[in-house]
Amino acid sequence: MSGKETDMPDWSLRSNLLSIKGVPLLESIAMHWERVEAFQAVPGDLLIATYPKAGTTWTQEIVDLIMNDGKKEECMRAPTHIRMPFLEISTPNKIMSGFQLLQVMAPPRVIKTHLPIQLVPHSFWENRCKVIYVARNAKDTAVSYYHFSRMNQVQPDPGTWPEYLDKFMRGELPWGSWYDHVKGYWKEKEKKNMLYLFFEDMKEDPRREVLRIAGFLGRHVPVDTIDNIVQLTTFAAMKNNPMANYSTVPDSIFDRKASEFLRKGEVGDWQNHFSSQQSAVFDEHYRRVIADTPVPFRFLL
Ligand code: A3P
Repeated sequence: MSGKETDMPDWSLRSNLLSIKGVPLLESIAMHWERVEAFQAVPGDLLIATYPKAGTTWTQEIVDLIMNDGKKEECMRAPTHIRMPFLEISTPNKIMSGFQLLQVMAPPRVIKTHLPIQLVPHSFWENRCKVIYVARNAKDTAVSYYHFSRMNQVQPDPGTWPEYLDKFMRGELPWGSWYDHVKGYWKEKEKKNMLYLFFEDMKEDPRREVLRIAGFLGRHVPVDTIDNIVQLTTFAAMKNNPMANYSTVPDSIFDRKASEFLRKGEVGDWQNHFSSQQSAVFDEHYRRVIADTPVPFRFLL
């Protein structure tokens, strides 16, 4: 599929949030929750799990390239969300509905989720499926999610930046609390078949992290293929790749005048958004909330 996915008349915009087991989710997800919960993963399925805006799409592209021996054409067979469906997302016209796509996709599959660990369908754990979790520092995640919520007309209206920051700190956003999310996966990582990555490490040394991912997937990838994968997954390369930059999603859903999907891809952009007072309040709250499970973020406060 390469053309714009234009025929999306029923997609009601600016979703409400509904709570599932205490986690706020988009109404469209919560309404078919039983189906998500009952999803049948099979051995060999791979789950890429993140809090929104942690570098999911980047990691998906790296994984797909590793699995396809670095062949660019193979990985341009369809847009990201078709190649590696988004488990819990459901849309009335089914175009981006991960659940529908997964029904017809032959396993083993690469599946994306933003669900916090306690909401991941049990079948993933029963089948010892591998999980790649990516975490990104809280402040950059908040900034990225804010801009994404401005552009993605399906997300609840973000309001102003100060209003949004309050909601982020209270966990009143789709998929809930960033703090609970990163801590939840961190606590379980030894018990599960999980690779826990950091966006900041990927930025610092993408080659090293691509090698870690290949190792976790049990793939031996030749050196020149690794170098090729690193080149194909730079911010610039992905921004220019219509199969990796969500450009097939129509402007009525992703309002690119508000912001772009591949926006900046940097570490530390929070400094352009937080006032010094916001930063101080955020840091104090952060230390308190993360204290029981100190996930080792770098470049943080
Ligand atoms: P910014 O909004 O800070 O630019 P997700 O895929 O989880 O929604 O995350 C999106 C964020 O990852 C965006 O952050 C996007 O620009 C960034 N990103 C995507 N691909 C990237 C890449 N190849 N290198 C660096 N950042 C990337």
